[in-house]
Amino acid sequence: MLTLTQIAEEPHVLTYRVHLRDGANLVLRPLTHADAESLAGFLGGLSSRSRRFSTFDGYDLATARQLCEAIARYDKLRLVLQKPSSGVIVGLFELSLAITPEDMARYRAAGVHLTEATDCRFGPTLADAYQNRGAATRAFPFVAEVVRLLGRSRLILWGGVLADNTRAIGFYEKVGFRHVGSFTGQDGTRSLDMMLDLP
Ligand SMILES: CC(C)(COP(=O)(O)OP(=O)(O)OC[C@H]1O[C@@H](n2cnc3c(N)ncnc32)[C@H](O)[C@@H]1OP(=O)(O)O)[C@@H](O)C(=O)NCCC(=O)NCCS
Repeated sequence: MLTLTQIAEEPHVLTYRVHLRDGANLVLRPLTHADAESLAGFLGGLSSRSRRFSTFDGYDLATARQLCEAIARYDKLRLVLQKPSSGVIVGLFELSLAITPEDMARYRAAGVHLTEATDCRFGPTLADAYQNRGAATRAFPFVAEVVRLLGRSRLILWGGVLADNTRAIGFYEKVGFRHVGSFTGQDGTRSLDMMLDLP
């Protein structure tokens, strides 16, 4: 089993090449401390639509630095999708090994018992120009393998998915997630809980 510290010490062991159907080649690998500026460029470039679907504390260099400073310090593993030629970050796949009491309560109501021994939270975000090109679908088998290496066997969506985010729901269904339930946020928006048992 791999730990977050081991991954931070040797990030190159988790490197995966992603080939898009239109011929573009990308690399998926753990976020490192050297990525702050490139990550800030990625966050700052997200459209308001993408920011509504995938919400971060901020979209600037300070936020990017916070995400880099969190490497191996808490419960998160972040993988970045990068253009190998320029180093530009075009995607962020976030995993969290912490399951919140709110997650547990919602899933319990649907008859699912979440535990930190089995479950992992997952949140993907692609740069607007890279959405709907098959990138997440092609990166996903490696993300699932990393989750396995971390000792977890199920994925749930980090904060659910907004019910009107049809592309994300299409992606989750395509890679095998099943619907567990729905909930209404404090702002009145409806979201769906989905989960995947890894093979
Ligand atoms: C959601 C997201 C991660 C998916 O990644 P992606 O690389 O765009 O997804 P893919 O192209 O691999 O797959 C999307 C699939 O959904 C399908 N799809 C697209 N729009 C759809 C729609 N409106 N309804 C149903 N399915 C749809 C596509 O057809 C595609 O399947 P196909 O390849 O068989 O045609 C990405 O679009 C993204 O970052 N969106 C903005 C942020 C976001 O919503 N994050 C998720 C928060 S829960």
